[in-house]
Amino acid sequence: MDLHSLFGLGGRRALVTGGSSGIGLAIAGALATAGAEVVVAARGRDRIDETVAGIRSAGGRAAGLVADLSTRAGCHELADAAGPIDVLVNSAGINIRPPLSDLDEDVWDATMSVNLDAPFILGQRLAPGMIERGYGRIISISSQQASRAFASSGAYGASKAALEGLARSQAEAWTASGVTSNVLVPGFVLTPLNRRLASDPGVVASLAARTFAGRNGLPDDFAAAAIFLAGPGSAYVTGQSIAVDGGFSVH
Ligand SMILES: NC(=O)c1ccc[n+]([C@@H]2O[C@H](COP(=O)([O-])OP(=O)(O)OC[C@H]3O[C@@H](n4cnc5c(N)ncnc54)[C@H](OP(=O)(O)O)[C@@H]3O)[C@@H](O)[C@H]2O)c1
Repeated sequence: MDLHSLFGLGGRRALVTGGSSGIGLAIAGALATAGAEVVVAARGRDRIDETVAGIRSAGGRAAGLVADLSTRAGCHELADAAGPIDVLVNSAGINIRPPLSDLDEDVWDATMSVNLDAPFILGQRLAPGMIERGYGRIISISSQQASRAFASSGAYGASKAALEGLARSQAEAWTASGVTSNVLVPGFVLTPLNRRLASDPGVVASLAARTFAGRNGLPDDFAAAAIFLAGPGSAYVTGQSIAVDGGFSVH
């Protein structure tokens, strides 16, 4: 057994939604380092181009696709454009955070569309090819708020709880055909998603104090876990929600 047979992604193609920022950006770079050709999808062309250029300049293979996952049509367009995909990473996500009493149906629908409907549609569209080729890995990014409420979990927590359920359903359906589905569960990670919360030093310190590591998460904390879940060595790990949170969830 060698490292490549456990973690190598040579010859694999990975689609990383939200791969132009934060956790998705780090995962895109990590999968390219392990040998995958990475397709980065998001709305903003500039950040996609920067990401693709960064991966290429580090010696990796990457391409970018502009995609808006807030509509079902946008999800289907991405699936049409992506070509054969072996590893699907659902990192695109939004968190609008109004207090629940102020949360209207538009916020609910917008949250569910990006955080839950897009992973569902992309799974339905891309898994058949994975099954046909006998290899597939679906990795979704959930949240502590899937299982505990804090910081106005609102629609966001509900969408992430459902995303974890979706991953278990995908695992049930497709693992015997070589396609696993797992979830990485961050704690509080300093990314643009959390710009508003992160601007309050008191909040940042109190969230760091809820970890055992004594610090909040960084996007690169997800790199090794993503390579593991994308690679051949994790074939028997499926339907799991794996915390990458410095101990936040067990404190
Ligand atoms: N940061 C945390 O503390 C934390 C904690 C728990 C869970 N998470 C989850 O981790 C994932 C990544 O979060 P992050 O912190 O890395 O966020 P981020 O830095 O804000 O990145 C979000 C990414 O999603 C893309 N995106 C947003 N809306 C989109 C849409 N409608 N269509 C296509 N792409 C879209 C963004 O690009 P464009 O804006 O250009 O489209 C960006 O690439 C999310 O699912 C989030 O819920 C994060």
